[in-house]
Amino acid sequence: MKKTILVTGGAGYIGSHTCKLLHEQDYTPVVLDNLVYGHESSVQWGELIKGDLNDPAVLDSLFRKFAPTAVIHFAAYAYVGESMTEPEKYYQNNVSGTLSLLAAMRRNNCKNIVFSSSCATYGLPVSLPIDELHPQDPVNPYGQSKLMVEKILADYDSAYGLKSVSLRYFNAAGADSGIMIGEDHNPETHLLPLTMYAALGLRENIRVFGTDYDTRDGSAVRDYIHVTDLAEAHILALQYLEDKNYLEDKNYLEERNSSQQINLGTGQGHSVLEIIRKVQQVSGREFPVILEERRQGDPPILVADARKAETVLGWKPTHSELGNIVRTAWQWHVKCHGSLKK
Ligand SMILES: NC(=O)c1ccc[n+]([C@@H]2O[C@H](COP(=O)([O-])OP(=O)(O)OC[C@H]3O[C@@H](n4cnc5c(N)ncnc54)[C@H](O)[C@@H]3O)[C@@H](O)[C@H]2O)c1
Repeated sequence: MKKTILVTGGAGYIGSHTCKLLHEQDYTPVVLDNLVYGHESSVQWGELIKGDLNDPAVLDSLFRKFAPTAVIHFAAYAYVGESMTEPEKYYQNNVSGTLSLLAAMRRNNCKNIVFSSSCATYGLPVSLPIDELHPQDPVNPYGQSKLMVEKILADYDSAYGLKSVSLRYFNAAGADSGIMIGEDHNPETHLLPLTMYAALGLRENIRVFGTDYDTRDGSAVRDYIHVTDLAEAHILALQYLEDKNYLEDKNYLEERNSSQQINLGTGQGHSVLEIIRKVQQVSGREFPVILEERRQGDPPILVADARKAETVLGWKPTHSELGNIVRTAWQWHVKCHGSLKK
């Protein structure tokens, strides 16, 4: 029988790609999303329950109706800048919302959760590439909220046997190969879609913050991971949790707290200027590139050591070559925004 998986935030960017893969791999996704940022049109592979994490009645009726065997928890606010000016909003949604979800899981005897964490939990890197043992010292409330949930999950495993895998994503990018869904944040703050908007003539230019870093070309370097590779890691994390619970039920498991925190990145960095050049090459379009001063708090380089994901989950990114990321994202944006303005 197909297993049902509750996907919170499944109308969003990474959640909708994960629902597609769940469906292809014979799971039944059920989406809980309040559509504050998500899109109803992105929920194509399972039922949408329009509701909020902070609503226990919605959660209980959902658990009773669908009896999900596990939860993949994407729902959160994710605007770093906004989290600095409106921290309450972030702690309320990302931390309290998660506590409400975990309480509903406990009430309904659901014991497995995969959580969207972030490289923002590390703060400014003290060594590179960043592995999972790197100190976690977030520099904004968004990163703090993700770290708090990681800690809550560790305690819930020790106390209640609730198993979790926290996946610390680096920079999600790209779109599904069938170009049925893609990245559509509003407002948009990520480099790749903003550069696409410049290529499409939907914005005047693209601004590069910092050109004097100690990197290949002076601009900041980030680790871009294709959204389909991220989705695959979630399925592997589910399977990891299913196995652990099976072994624990059979008393084969010696260690009790087997929850995991795992980086998802490629281990390779691309600079801001390299991304812009690749977008110009793939789109065949030129647009003004404005060079600006560094922004405070932006680390020069953020690159993952992703070896643990391979060892523990058997995960290896296969879609994250930069050309593929930019090509799929470009095709999605052209489809989404119709005829080109230039
Ligand atoms: N995009 C990235 O590069 C990146 C990197 C690291 C971590 N993350 C994390 O991954 C997750 C998904 O990111 P995304 O880019 O797909 O974001 P997104 O905004 O596209 O998706 C989040 C979804 O959650 C929903 N949501 C928010 N609060 C809710 C609530 N209280 N109840 C119900 N639904 C709610 C939104 O409507 C939205 O559809 C987030 O938790 C984010 O912090 C993303």
